[in-house]
Amino acid sequence: MSTTASDAGTTPPGVSVPELPPAFQVSKREQKTLPNWALKVAMAITGTFGALFLVLHLVGNLKVYTGAEHFNDYALWLRHVGEPLIPANGVIWILRCALALCLLVHVTCGVLIWTRGRAARGKFPAKRNNGFRSVGATLMPFTGCALLVFIVFHILDLTLGTQPIATADFQDHTETAAFAYQNLVADFSRPWAAAIYLVMMALLSVHLAHGLFTVVSDLGAVGKRLRAILIAIGGLLALAILLGNASIPLAVQLGVLK
Ligand code: HEM
Repeated sequence: MSTTASDAGTTPPGVSVPELPPAFQVSKREQKTLPNWALKVAMAITGTFGALFLVLHLVGNLKVYTGAEHFNDYALWLRHVGEPLIPANGVIWILRCALALCLLVHVTCGVLIWTRGRAARGKFPAKRNNGFRSVGATLMPFTGCALLVFIVFHILDLTLGTQPIATADFQDHTETAAFAYQNLVADFSRPWAAAIYLVMMALLSVHLAHGLFTVVSDLGAVGKRLRAILIAIGGLLALAILLGNASIPLAVQLGVLK
């Protein structure tokens, strides 16, 4: 079933309106699915939340340069923040659930937009523009999938300590002691693990730079100056997350952190 112009309910009774050409008809099934703009707004909001998490995570990660004691205290604080109002691990679990929900919405909407785009382009897609921006855009599904795999790898590696991904020296945190510093240094002392993190930080920065660029349009920022400022902030954030995070495996490999 498809709509005609008269379905809109704007035509006076007795006046017949011809059917729209097939290319302009919207099937009943399509009317029930979420429009692309809603998917894009959902992606923009969840992506911005993810970027905010990454900024906070970077600030936390950089505490590694303040020494083992401070870094471990910070890991312990994360588990006890809000006590006694909130039980131990409460805040960290709220954050984990919010992040998991954002990731689920972000990935589902991304897959829907990507499959719809492919179906709409058909067998003869138009030639893409060349240039840095379009390379970032073309790489989005690839960098996105790589990040998904990385997040699973990273949690097994530094949170759960699952071998053989984590080191044999991995120590679980206890109620009163955290070993985040020792786990991190042992992990990045393995050249292959440091290399994986470095490559992933490069892919993450490409994903973030293009993602934050699109957020500016998808959340409706208009005006040349405002757009330029927001795009610059997005680019700088992506660069800070790349350089700040990448410095850590490099520092371990160079013996600055031990
Ligand atoms: C070189 C870069 C990174 C370093 C050094 C790093 C470090 C860490 C460490 C040490 C932990 C465990 C914290 C603890 O035990 O308290 C952790 C957990 C985590 N990291 Fe990262 N991280 C990096 C990049 C990333 C990136 C790019 C993402 C997301 C795309 C990410 C997402 C997470 C998540 C979701 C957790 C689990 C938190 C939890 O459930 O306890 N990390 N990270």
